[in-house]
Amino acid sequence: MTAAEDLRARADLHTALGQPGSGRLRYAAAMHFHRKGLISPEALEVYRICSPQDWEDPAALLASRGLSVDLPPPDAPALAIRLLVEEIDRYLATLPGPGVAEVRSLIARWQGGPARLAPAANPVADEHLPQALAALSPTHPALAAAIRAAAPLLTWVTYDAYPPDEIGPVFRQSHAFASLIGEGATIPAEDFDLGLFLIAPHVLYRDHAHPAPELYAPLTGPHGWRFGPGKPLIVKPAHEPVWNLPDSPHLTKVGSTPFLCVFGWTRDTKFPARVIPAGDWAELEAIRIEG
Ligand SMILES: [Fe+2]
Repeated sequence: MTAAEDLRARADLHTALGQPGSGRLRYAAAMHFHRKGLISPEALEVYRICSPQDWEDPAALLASRGLSVDLPPPDAPALAIRLLVEEIDRYLATLPGPGVAEVRSLIARWQGGPARLAPAANPVADEHLPQALAALSPTHPALAAAIRAAAPLLTWVTYDAYPPDEIGPVFRQSHAFASLIGEGATIPAEDFDLGLFLIAPHVLYRDHAHPAPELYAPLTGPHGWRFGPGKPLIVKPAHEPVWNLPDSPHLTKVGSTPFLCVFGWTRDTKFPARVIPAGDWAELEAIRIEG
């Protein structure tokens, strides 16, 4: 049962009296919570009795039998994270290409784990996420809304483990990521990392590589990409996924819209990324890709 379905069952349990089919809807929802141990067999029986009568209020019969239904309140912050993970999974299901199915199977494996919130605001996210979401909203309103709702609860990090002289001063202070599922992430997992990655407009994320196979699902665009020093810069639109094989070099040149993507590392997540030297970073930093 997903977080969204759980929310729906809560709504169904309180469907308006008289609505056609509402008695059965209330009974199905009661069955859902009974299976989770949150509604007693006696209370469930009340919902069963009332199920053919859409006008019959189970509350009255419950009260007359000395019963009550007290569901614990939903854990709203954790729910926002779970709904975002579900929305990301729904989004990934629309994408073609390698890596998507693998990331989705790992989401399915880990998404049910306990959520541990450690909100950490970040100046890059504060400054650039609104513009990225404004670009995403017209075509993907549900995903944009789910990110907007969860963003203040996420642990945003500006990664500082690259040697400063190799990664360059601009990227170092112009990006942020938030792990949703992973080691030490909001939802714990082993050897899998799923999250959001944000880079400020026009920034160059220099050539780099890592042992982990990586899916990028860019939610904004266009942005520039290349897959090895000396290779041409390719401009790709939003929603065209990139699958990086282990140790394959890749570079991202952000366009005029902030770069926002879903990333997934499917294994070997403990091994860090390294910068790969190239002689043309200054030129790439200077170019402009307009959306
Ligand atoms: Fe990467």
